[in-house]
Amino acid sequence: MTARILEGKEFSLKIKEEAKLGVEELKNKFGVTPSLAVVIVGENPASQVYVRNKHKTCEELGIRSEVVEMSESTTKEELIAKIDEMNADKSINGILVQLPLPTAIKAHEEEILNRIDPLKDVDGFHPYNVGRLVTGSPTLVPCTPAGCLKMLDLAGIEIDGKRAVIIGRSNIVGKPMLHLLMSRHATVTVCHSHTKNLPEVTREADILVAAIGKPKFVTADMIKPSAVIVDVGINRIAPKKLVGDVDFDNAKEIASAITPVPGGVGLLTVAMLMQNVIKATRLQLEK
Ligand code: GUN
Repeated sequence: MTARILEGKEFSLKIKEEAKLGVEELKNKFGVTPSLAVVIVGENPASQVYVRNKHKTCEELGIRSEVVEMSESTTKEELIAKIDEMNADKSINGILVQLPLPTAIKAHEEEILNRIDPLKDVDGFHPYNVGRLVTGSPTLVPCTPAGCLKMLDLAGIEIDGKRAVIIGRSNIVGKPMLHLLMSRHATVTVCHSHTKNLPEVTREADILVAAIGKPKFVTADMIKPSAVIVDVGINRIAPKKLVGDVDFDNAKEIASAITPVPGGVGLLTVAMLMQNVIKATRLQLEK
């Protein structure tokens, strides 16, 4: 049996529709137009594409968007000063510093991100927001894992009581995904580069999330028949060829549902970012 293909486009349209209503409500009830500031440091081509996408989606939904371009040679102090300025600016509701940062300031990434006002932290990376997610009262949740969960819900895939396995333990995807799935009563295992007998573990999964950044790493023999596969990987294997962390063509013959790459959960990340901008605006109005 061939798996149901979970097209990101279909779900992202629904999420953006919802976000549009949120924007209208903020305008009508409070006279506020939500706004996002995205900081890009240096000229990473992939980052430039992502940032342009975020800007375009904001415009589509009526969210004010500002892209702050800073040079490759920006110092940690300069970037922190810019963040302080945006924290203090009441007309900015969401702040996002696009990653990766240039090599020269990469080591200070944590300090830089922690400087963002937690109520404006639309990436959900600040320890305050991470803590809220871990303790079960999430507010601003990282966009990619939040998008994966939302997609499972919109697709009508049950989570409660299921065995979920996540491959990858990053702060951006693996760890928040663990808490999101656990909060929905899945039994969750997180695998990583030191996991022994990985295929044995992944074959237990009713829901398998791959977030490792290794092209076609998850092969058909690692998948339980009828599992749901969420592929978060985006790997460029040739100038115009993107593949996920899952060997899609073979996996789709075993799984019951699978997200493609490109065109899968990547589209949901941007849609969830828009939802986070709206949520952040509401949090600031409630304060
Ligand atoms: N670069 C790749 N993914 C992300 C993300 O989710 N947030 C930020 N800020 N940068 C990224």
